[in-house]
Amino acid sequence: MTISDSAILKAIYERRSVRQFLDAPVSRDAVLEALKAACWAPSGLNNQPWRFAIVQDSANKEALAALTRYSATLKSAAVLVVVLLDREASYDHTKDCQAVGACLQNMLLAFHSMDLGAVWIGEILKNGDRVVETLKLPERLELMAVVAVGHPAHRNQKSHRRPIEELILLDK
Ligand SMILES: Cc1cc2nc3c(=O)[nH]c(=O)nc-3n(C[C@H](O)[C@H](O)[C@H](O)COP(=O)(O)O)c2cc1C
Repeated sequence: MTISDSAILKAIYERRSVRQFLDAPVSRDAVLEALKAACWAPSGLNNQPWRFAIVQDSANKEALAALTRYSATLKSAAVLVVVLLDREASYDHTKDCQAVGACLQNMLLAFHSMDLGAVWIGEILKNGDRVVETLKLPERLELMAVVAVGHPAHRNQKSHRRPIEELILLDK
C-alpha cells in the first residue's frame, strides 16, 4: 500500500469545515456512528472524559444559536452535537481537554467519511455555562465545543496550511 491509498490520510486532507447546510435530516445512525468514532479517541489513563448532548429540536437549536455569532450555522444544521467535559471524570484539566480535542477530530473525520459536513464551533465557549443551563445539563459538565452537522449546501470550502518547513523548529 502506498501513502496515497490511505483512506485515513485522504479523509484528513479532504475534510473541510462546513458552515452551510441543506434543509435535510441526518440519520440517527450516522450521528451515533460519529459519536462512537469520537469515543475511540485516546485519553489519559483511558478516562474518556467526553460527554455529548444531541440537539435536533428547533427550540433548543434556536436557544443555542442565540449564544454565538455563528447563529446562522447552528440554525441551518440538522443536528448539533454539544461536546462536554465531565469534571467528575477529569484527572488533569489540560490532558482531559487534549483528549476531548482528539475526540472532536475523530468526530469531524467520521462525519466527513459519511459524506456529511460539520464544523467545530468554539466561539460559543464564551457562553459555556449558559449552554449547560439552557440544556438543563448537570453543572459538573464544562462545554468544550458545539459541532454543527448537516448535509453540505456546497463543496466549495477552501482552506490552507502553513508549509511544514515553517513549523518544524528542530530536526537533527
Ligand atoms: C478550537 C477550535 C475552535 C473553532 N471555532 C470555530 C467557530 O467558532 N466558528 C467556526 O466557524 N469555525 C470554528 N472552527 C473551525 C476553524 O475555523 C477551521 O477548522 C479552520 O479555519 C481550518 O479550516 P478547515 O477546518 O476547513 O481545514 C474552530 C476550530 C477549532 C479547532
